[in-house]
Amino acid sequence: MRFFLIGYPLGHSMSPFLHGLFLDQIGQRGTYELKELIPETFNDQIRALKQSGYSGFNITIPYKVDIMPFLDVIDPQAKAIGAVNTVVIKDGCWTGYNTDGAGYVQSLKYHYPQLFRPSSRFLVLGAGGASRGIVHALNNETCAAITISNRTVEKAATIINALPPKKDYQAISFSEAEATLDQYDAIINTTSLGMEPNVDTQAIHLNRLKQGAVVSDIVYKPFVTALIREAMSKGADVHHGHEMLVYQAALAFELWTGYNVDARPVIEAFETKLK
Ligand code: ATR
Repeated sequence: MRFFLIGYPLGHSMSPFLHGLFLDQIGQRGTYELKELIPETFNDQIRALKQSGYSGFNITIPYKVDIMPFLDVIDPQAKAIGAVNTVVIKDGCWTGYNTDGAGYVQSLKYHYPQLFRPSSRFLVLGAGGASRGIVHALNNETCAAITISNRTVEKAATIINALPPKKDYQAISFSEAEATLDQYDAIINTTSLGMEPNVDTQAIHLNRLKQGAVVSDIVYKPFVTALIREAMSKGADVHHGHEMLVYQAALAFELWTGYNVDARPVIEAFETKLK
């Protein structure tokens, strides 16, 4: 089994480590290569890879959208999200999927299954690529409402307007989010605020946080972000976004191999590298 990752730059990607542990779980030999593709020659390099003998690959920044014209089939959910992070290669046919949002939701559900009930209201901070994936995955789950709050509110509204209408949706500013925070059962940060080196920044403050609400941050460098620190100081339940990386990898691995793998021991191994 041969897999690879494309992106630029790839620096210290954890994906070979994660997929190595999944290969161990199923008792198979395989390789997971890093292919740093420079933007100037991206198209030629992708065409060359079409002739190769791999079983599948992952796509990371900045190519999750650029890969789409090269695919033979695109899963409807990935099409709706507008980005692909996993490609399955079978008999020369390339099929694209997006496992980022579903991976995130699996992690949140593992820790806080009670959030996925008919009355739950989710607040997602940010309206970039990560937000789109998570919002579409949440939209498939049991909940009452999904609100997106972003510095640029129009970008939040664009995501909302593209959702298959199933729930109560809103696009609001950060100040509106702060003012109405007690309406939400989970707050999920997908913005880059709080990420090293800007560790003291956060999209909103949590003064009106509802009792029992969960605060989640997909930023995991630092492991405890300013938002998570404020949530902890209020005694709130928190969720760390590094698990999204492992669950999205597990879902990709399952698409490639057909084997179900256990993300939990891989998360433990990943954490020893992170902390
Ligand atoms: P990703 O793919 O990781 O989601 P992205 O598509 O670049 O990255 O999205 C980044 C998100 O972080 C956006 O919601 C962005 O807000 P805007 O849409 O208004 O640009 C948000 N973000 C980044 N820097 C920010 C800042 N300094 N203040 C507020 N929001 C910020």
